[in-house]
Amino acid sequence: MDSMKLTEGIYNVGVRDWNIRDFHGYSTHKGTTYNAFLIVDEKIVLIDTVKKEFGDKLLENISSIVDPKKIDMVISNHSEMDHTGSLTRIMHFIGEEKPVLCSKLGKKNIEAHFGKDKLNLNPVKSGEEISTGSKTLSFLETRMLHWPDSMFTYAKEDKILFSSDAFGQHYSGWATFDDELSEEEWTNHAKKYYANILLPFSGLVKKVISDIEKANLEVNMICPDHGLIFRKDQAKIIGLYKEWSELKPSKKAVIIYDSMWNSTRKMAEVIAETIADQKIDVISMNTRKWDRSEIITEVLDAGAVLIGSPTLNNNIFPALSDILTYMKGLKPKNKIGAAFGSYGWSGEAVGILNSYMEEIGFDVVDEGIKVQYIPEEADFEKCRNLGLKISEQLNNL
Ligand code: FEO
Repeated sequence: MDSMKLTEGIYNVGVRDWNIRDFHGYSTHKGTTYNAFLIVDEKIVLIDTVKKEFGDKLLENISSIVDPKKIDMVISNHSEMDHTGSLTRIMHFIGEEKPVLCSKLGKKNIEAHFGKDKLNLNPVKSGEEISTGSKTLSFLETRMLHWPDSMFTYAKEDKILFSSDAFGQHYSGWATFDDELSEEEWTNHAKKYYANILLPFSGLVKKVISDIEKANLEVNMICPDHGLIFRKDQAKIIGLYKEWSELKPSKKAVIIYDSMWNSTRKMAEVIAETIADQKIDVISMNTRKWDRSEIITEVLDAGAVLIGSPTLNNNIFPALSDILTYMKGLKPKNKIGAAFGSYGWSGEAVGILNSYMEEIGFDVVDEGIKVQYIPEEADFEKCRNLGLKISEQLNNL
């Protein structure tokens, strides 16, 4: 990605990472971008840097606009390494004595990564402002969105919100702005990002959005650190964050299962067909065909989650442990749950799945269905009844 002018004196100087396919466990089929922003005014300010291996490209992009050595200060909105990995390289190039503005916890976290007294770190607080000449930048701490040190920077005169990871999407492609992709496509990328990164912090998302609304903050553009920049649908993405942060269950069931000799798969299919016959949105996801980040994206707005596993060595299948561990950490709320699965001789899986779902916080509405070896018609009838019970509860939402 070459540098791109966003408005008078403000540029995106970030980089594309076409080939990242796995962002610490989050499948990034469309790669991602590490956006960084350059403000060229009486003072020259760089907002965020990029992953370590892209530092040279960041310098090249800055150089196409201005000599990087003329940068007066750097703002670090968030200390995770995809945005600060090249910070020391950039500071070494432009002058290590120059100030790096970050939150108080940003100072602590940047020092924890790079060592004390290596950089001239200057903590800023919510509400604090600096002038670059004709532009005013203000800061809003957004602790735990999604790191303790996260903050937003707001360019007052241009009404541009530099939102760090919030409102981001792991998307790398020809498009730079929201209006260059269909709303459906960017919404899908943003939803996956929310489900995998921001879901456990939904209460804080609600608060930050309420703060933005109370402050009547006008936002002409939202510049997140990943993916598309919003210049058309700022209100829409803020509205979607508001909706997702409510954690409201919808009339939708997600069936997550693994299977050994197809018995649990057949049970999953009968449950799915029954729910579909009730004209309720349902998706059946085999853990060997769908990865955990796709599954949690579907779980985000579901009202029901059904989990199936055969019993393997007195336990559940390993792939189910993976998604359940991941789900527990992301804390989805307001869902009903039920378990099912086949077994040969001991049959612990359904009980273990019920315990997992209770730990996650699901309302387990059925004792679950256990089938020895091969499901017969009577077992499929139980699966149909479970599908009907779930459908009825979803219809009553
Ligand atoms: Fe994009 Fe939290 O780093």
